[in-house]
Amino acid sequence: MRVVGQRGAEAADLAFIRERRVGRLATADAEGRPSVVPVVYALTELGGEPVVVTAIDEKPKGDPRNLRRVRNIRHRPEIALVVDDYRENWAELAWVIVRGSANLLEPGDPGHDETVAALRLKYPQYTHMRLEALPAIVIRDVVTSSWRGSDGDGKQPPARPGREELSTLIQGRRSVRAFDTRSVPRAVIEGAIAAAGWAPSPHGRQPWRFVVVESQARRDALADAMAETWRTQLRLDGQDEEIVAARLAKSRNRLQRAPVLIVPCLYLQGLDTYPDADRQQAEETMAIQSLGAAVQNLLLSLYAAGVDGGWMCAPLFCPEVVQEALGLDATLNPHALIAVGYAASDPVRRPRLALDALIVDWL
Ligand SMILES: Cc1cc2nc3c(=O)[nH]c(=O)nc-3n(C[C@H](O)[C@H](O)[C@H](O)COP(=O)(O)O)c2cc1C
Repeated sequence: MRVVGQRGAEAADLAFIRERRVGRLATADAEGRPSVVPVVYALTELGGEPVVVTAIDEKPKGDPRNLRRVRNIRHRPEIALVVDDYRENWAELAWVIVRGSANLLEPGDPGHDETVAALRLKYPQYTHMRLEALPAIVIRDVVTSSWRGSDGDGKQPPARPGREELSTLIQGRRSVRAFDTRSVPRAVIEGAIAAAGWAPSPHGRQPWRFVVVESQARRDALADAMAETWRTQLRLDGQDEEIVAARLAKSRNRLQRAPVLIVPCLYLQGLDTYPDADRQQAEETMAIQSLGAAVQNLLLSLYAAGVDGGWMCAPLFCPEVVQEALGLDATLNPHALIAVGYAASDPVRRPRLALDALIVDWL
């Protein structure tokens, strides 16, 4: 364990606060009376210097400039922001204190646009809030001090936040195929698609886009159009008419009953082009691999929000039909359908291979 004294803004401290999502902002009024509030914040740069920014959210009533923290920083710009991790294993406790000078950025002030962009990038919840019309707090002249329990011995990398929760989410996510009738909040869908956006991708080009299908009419149209194609394909396979009808009814039911469908589409426009077919094929394969990573982020984000998803591959077998039913641009190649909603019941989980079956060699 070690204590780190106060210094300029250390890169490790900045990385720590960049990865966390909430801090406690301390301000004081003209008489020195302290006030502390939890805040969401983003770390960004203005004029080449690290700054911490936090929004003044829309309040139900009153001028946001009357908030205590805003009044306080007018009198005393000096603030402190604490960002910390608590773990029952005290060797993993950690905190960073940011001290700096805060001031209010009004819409139109230099740096206000960058502030809004940084906050929206970190918190998709801000996408539809009128942040551009509201003042924000910017903390400059950032100095950090910190304490970390486990990074001093050099044997193990410092744990990232949410390590325990991550395995709960990874192992808890399940494919759900029947949903109840509750609708899914828009913010959950937006958060999941924002999470998909953080997936690794070839050249960082994010070769995928998402179409959200919520309207009943569109879901019905999609279900009908896909059912027709599937009927033809099942007949081609020589399937019994009764079985064909049962499978179609089940699939149609799934699309019509899920409150939301998300259609991940491969979008190859921004990728590199090659003169030879082999490399071109590899480029496309990379894009498809990356689409899978994006979908997994999406599913985990939904699950973390208490919502479930069910991956359906059907659009792969009739991309043009899906394009037509949804009126999609030809550059969007539908690769899957994710039915999204609240599970009607807990599905049975498929068992997984043991670790020694997954690792075939460790050379
Ligand atoms: C590319 C892909 C396509 C899938 N397509 C379907 C599908 O068409 N219908 C379906 O019921 N499940 C589909 N699944 C879900 C798998 O059946 C499911 O992930 C697997 O059985 C493991 O179960 P779990 O997701 O609950 O852990 C698909 C999964 C993937 C990755």
